Amino acid sequence: MTLPDDVSWVRGAALDDIEEGGAVAATCAGVPVCLARSGDQVYALIDRCSHQDVPLSAGEVEDGAIECYLHGSRFDLATGKVLGPPAVKDVRTFPVRTEAGQVYVGMPHGTAAPRKDVP
Ligand code: FES
Repeated sequence: MTLPDDVSWVRGAALDDIEEGGAVAATCAGVPVCLARSGDQVYALIDRCSHQDVPLSAGEVEDGAIECYLHGSRFDLATGKVLGPPAVKDVRTFPVRTEAGQVYVGMPHGTAAPRKDVP
């Protein structure tokens, strides 16, 4: 996989702090990010369900997806696509790289904390 070079890499967490099949909340460049681990892979998504604005990091990771704890919407970890209702809008994802046991999230240049009305 080619990593983008038009982002700022921001440390999100230590790899050891994310359990296999788990997720943690992080703040990267002021943006709430859900770091989820599935197998050997770590994924980064906006830490906000597109249904009712609760943190996805409180959900369950399974089969390459994360399920929102509140109403059960499921999102693909790699793409952010909605896999199950009631959410109908995809969630934003960010590139991830790991180095020396640390997880870095690629934040687009000029990233600022998202407004509530912009997923
Ligand atoms: S708030 Fe996430 S599915 Fe409703």
